[in-house]
Amino acid sequence: MRPDLLQRVVTLRAQRIAQQRTRVRQVVTRREGVRYEVDGHWLTGFCSNDYLGLSQQFAVVAAMQEGVARHGIGSGASHLVCGHHAAHEALEREVAGWLGYPRGLLFGSGFMANLAVIQSLLETDDVCVQDRLNHASLVDAAHLSGCHLRRYPHGDAEGALRQLSAVPKVAAMLATDGVFSMDGDVAPLKMLTLAARMQHALLYVDDAHGVGVLGEQGAGSVEQAGLTAKDVPLQLVTLGKALGGYGAVVVGDERLIGHLAEVARPYLYTTALPPALAAASLAAVRNARSNAQPRETLQVLIAHFRNVAAVHGLELMPSDTPIQPFLCGSEGHAIAFAEGLRAAGYWVTAIRPPTVAEGGSRLRITLSALHTPAEIDGLLEAVAGIRDVLAARRETAQ
Ligand SMILES: Cc1ncc(COP(=O)(O)O)c(C=O)c1O
Repeated sequence: MRPDLLQRVVTLRAQRIAQQRTRVRQVVTRREGVRYEVDGHWLTGFCSNDYLGLSQQFAVVAAMQEGVARHGIGSGASHLVCGHHAAHEALEREVAGWLGYPRGLLFGSGFMANLAVIQSLLETDDVCVQDRLNHASLVDAAHLSGCHLRRYPHGDAEGALRQLSAVPKVAAMLATDGVFSMDGDVAPLKMLTLAARMQHALLYVDDAHGVGVLGEQGAGSVEQAGLTAKDVPLQLVTLGKALGGYGAVVVGDERLIGHLAEVARPYLYTTALPPALAAASLAAVRNARSNAQPRETLQVLIAHFRNVAAVHGLELMPSDTPIQPFLCGSEGHAIAFAEGLRAAGYWVTAIRPPTVAEGGSRLRITLSALHTPAEIDGLLEAVAGIRDVLAARRETAQ
């Protein structure tokens, strides 16, 4: 008999409950910087990607309001029909100029942009070599393109080289996150550049969590590694993280970007972002480019966080970025930490499989330039307190 889809869904849900992997949305009723009102309680958030606090920055919000007054709320069509506005064009130019590329192309989201890049460049017999911890959108994009996906151990440039050299006759892309979204560490970009060059593969860096935060100009992990557009022909910049808005820009060589603009299905067959949102993102990019202060503050806060964590004997994963994961192991343990923190007035969502590997459940603590040292101290004191309570509970249970 044909399997019943509804019954399958019910069974899968029961499995997720047994594995403590259900996912529940929390409704935010108000937000002021890093403070969130949820269920009538104010919490200090440590799990947003608004690393520079740009989503509520005055000039950015003002640009959005002016954009809505001028253009309304929507673009009305896809870019290639009649939805491409001057604000989109200006944003693409600004992002490309910031990162030092000839051209940029605006997408509805980073997820869509990754689908677009890989689907429109790779064909069935080609290969896409990826870091094992790459973002889900890069992995899904390779599956959808029908190319061969080969993965190498996390951060292992030699592994990448081996994977590429195993398939010397087909067109190849080497794709990596710049900053890994769940671990916070940075890809070995210099070595990956060499691997790509030796193997004539196109290097694509998804710098969703690096742009705005890393590098002297804030141009991301490629800038921080001392590399340029010559070394990394194609990059993804997301607008929904450090830049505080929504959407993404792929920057690269004129011919590559021109190709995407004419053939990428997630570009052709979707409505262009609201022009007002593009105007707000333009203001955010200009701010991130010209004002190094929040970036510097963030670095000071990251160092403070790691020092205070060490004082509490809290072991952190190696990371110099605003993503500072605290490994808990099991799903239950991660949930216990998240619930304890919530009771203490802090919001850090527990990250569990399949977002991370089995046994790798964690608190993905993220820092923002808007946090104060006192808020960080309070969070870490609460984490250490919960650790002690859980350890004491385990001892009495034994
Ligand atoms: C590394 C990475 N790439 C791409 C994306 C997708 O970006 P967006 O949220 O704009 O769809 C994310 C978002 O979580 C990410 O972490």
